[in-house]
Amino acid sequence: MKILVINGPNLNMLGIREPGVYGKETYKDLCRKIEDHAKKLGIDVEIYQSNHEGDLVDKIQEAYGDANGIVINPAAYTHTSVAILDAVKSVSIPTVEVHISKVEEREDFRQVSYIRKACVATVTGKGTDGYLMAMNILFEGGADK
Ligand code: DQA
Repeated sequence: MKILVINGPNLNMLGIREPGVYGKETYKDLCRKIEDHAKKLGIDVEIYQSNHEGDLVDKIQEAYGDANGIVINPAAYTHTSVAILDAVKSVSIPTVEVHISKVEEREDFRQVSYIRKACVATVTGKGTDGYLMAMNILFEGGADK
């Protein structure tokens, strides 16, 4: 089983970026945590980050026939991107949406999630542990084996 973890814009700035909202762990810490968890589950994982919407669409398309599940934090594109929603729908790979912060308790403009309609689950407000929870959801059956 292979899970692809995709992070959108500014998530490479974790640890530096608004630590009161997103925590002190760096992006490198997050990657290590995801890799350790994949090892524990005995699965393959690939981690990808981009600040560019089209690159995120390309990566989702490339997952077709390669990954059994996708964990995605589209970051700001959550609230704007029909292209990312369409990409997830195109590949039909079970996908879990993750947000580090509790988006539902934040600004009005963060209350819209385009991608949510195409996801098997959403995890918000659990910090970086939310990525591991999303991996567990896919591992436990949300994903095609
Ligand atoms: C985020 C929430 C988004 O609203 C924001 O634009 C992000 C990060 C989160 O992980 O909490 O960049 O997706």
